[in-house]
Amino acid sequence: MRRKFVAGNWKMNGSHAANAELLAGITAARPFGCDVAVCVPFPYLSEAAVALSGSDVRWGAQDCSVHASGAYTGEVSVGMLAEFGCRYVIVGHSERRQYHGETDQLVADKAKAALAKGVTPIVCVGETLAQREAGETEAVVKRQLSAVIHALAHCAGEMVVAYEPVWAIGTGKVATPEQAQAVHALLRAQLKAATPKADAMQILYGGSMKPDNAASLLTQPDIDGGLIGGAALKAADFVAICRAAG
Ligand code: G3P
Repeated sequence: MRRKFVAGNWKMNGSHAANAELLAGITAARPFGCDVAVCVPFPYLSEAAVALSGSDVRWGAQDCSVHASGAYTGEVSVGMLAEFGCRYVIVGHSERRQYHGETDQLVADKAKAALAKGVTPIVCVGETLAQREAGETEAVVKRQLSAVIHALAHCAGEMVVAYEPVWAIGTGKVATPEQAQAVHALLRAQLKAATPKADAMQILYGGSMKPDNAASLLTQPDIDGGLIGGAALKAADFVAICRAAG
């Protein structure tokens, strides 16, 4: 039986005041019957670590460098994230792939760099609307995951995978539970061929998951939680999703 996992991806949102209110709302609602984490912008890692220390709510970042240190202006290493107590780092989010030209190989290298420092990568895969309409969903997500599996080799079982159909992100167009489950099952099968840990791995769904659709998605056999964008910015919504998962 896999434990469900709900992670908030705050993206480029937040302020000292908003974060304090949001984190207080989340911690006040504990305990949850699932794993819970928030992935916050880099400047807020320190305050998230303080606000969440002593609670079972975990925190993480939204990206990392493949490099350990050096002349890489603007980059943040996994070692730095580990110093801030990050348990997770999101890699390969479609917004990074789209706006920053991140390739499958770069995403795979980031996942490898994360695990090398003991930070769990949440590896995002997902197809665009054009790819879905062209019948390419399976090929796209398999290609994206395959690069990471190859890079992680015997450690592939240590990552968290997130299926985020690009057309469902921030659009209010959620994948149906059946559509999402079909892709999750494909991903699980691909993981099974690569690691004996596949049955224990958490595969999250991301894309307009909200309190009113969370339960129907989370009851699918291969959907082990959610990677939440917009609804992670309001404590009541995020907590409601955590409750649906727990
Ligand atoms: O990583 C989470 C994400 O991209 C989904 O965003 O706003 O559709 O929940 P949203």
